[in-house]
Amino acid sequence: MKNVLRLCAESEVTEGAPFSVEIEGIPPLAVYRIDDEIYVTNRTCTHGDADLTEGFQEGGEIECPFHGGSFSIKTGEPVNLPCSKPLTTYPVKVIDGIVYIEKPTRQG
Ligand code: FES
Repeated sequence: MKNVLRLCAESEVTEGAPFSVEIEGIPPLAVYRIDDEIYVTNRTCTHGDADLTEGFQEGGEIECPFHGGSFSIKTGEPVNLPCSKPLTTYPVKVIDGIVYIEKPTRQG
């Protein structure tokens, strides 16, 4: 497949434990499970240099471990201050148990 990036096995991602993926050339990613769906966002909080995979997933939201701001995992929209800038999200494909995203054309 062209223009897609393989991230991880779907089975590696459990709800409540965001999975960290690093691929050269793009920002670090966080992979989440919500019910039976997989979602991918940038891993770094937009408020500071915090790793969101070390934060707290509560249903469809991820809370930053630094200052307690949070984002919607599905949309990337900030839902609690001090986060005010959206988090980049990526369309996900799961094929034969492997999680892929389209190769980002620009970094966010
Ligand atoms: Fe994430 Fe401040 S760095 S809320």
